[in-house]
Amino acid sequence: MASLRSYQGADDFVPEDASLATLATAVQQCRGCDLYERATQAVFGRGARNAAMVLVGEQPGDMEDKAGQPFVGPAGKLLDRALADAGIPPEHTYTTNAVKHFRWKPEAHGRKRRIHQPPEAAQIKACRPWLTAELDRLEPQVLVTLGATAGRALFGSSFRVTKQRGEKTGWCWPGPPEREITVVATIHPSAVLRADDQDEAYAGLVDDLRVAASCL
Ligand code: URA
Ligand code: SF4
Repeated sequence: MASLRSYQGADDFVPEDASLATLATAVQQCRGCDLYERATQAVFGRGARNAAMVLVGEQPGDMEDKAGQPFVGPAGKLLDRALADAGIPPEHTYTTNAVKHFRWKPEAHGRKRRIHQPPEAAQIKACRPWLTAELDRLEPQVLVTLGATAGRALFGSSFRVTKQRGEKTGWCWPGPPEREITVVATIHPSAVLRADDQDEAYAGLVDDLRVAASCL
């Protein structure tokens, strides 16, 4: 069911003309949606200030929420391996998420584990100003969206990863100044970990990353 909730959004919390470092500090004060309430901290992007490639995931997971860094858990390890296999040096990349706080629900029967929940459309929209602020500072040559949430954050709710993956797509940068940037969509690394045929899913991810690498 579509979410009926709407949120204030992050706009009022994003400092204008701030550096990436200042943005990373300011995001800790964000109350643009309800996700800050149950998360340990906001998790901002990480990587080279002059990165040619920006990779956008979904949201921090359990380990990222505790560590305060994106992609440090199992999905991140797999992503690092796939980038290496696609010939993309880590120093050319910056990795972030469409949503900066971890959305989770408690495990049933009073167990302690925090179960990942995908962010709602309204939360993705609320958090988008942080992502556009990052992109505005980074001005990458190519953007890679990992999974459905990141694709929706950029292309809207009609985005389908199965249809759009592995192709170079033009995306209109909100600017100013407005300009087109190349985006390559692919699956989320955690989808590889969940796949029945992990080798095949992994090879598909690496193929898509090679397409992105060819834009550099
Ligand atoms: N999955 C994501 O989408 N992002 C992370 O940072 C970790 C796991
Ligand atoms: Fe702000 Fe995004 Fe966190 Fe919501 S998820 S509180 S919009 S930083």
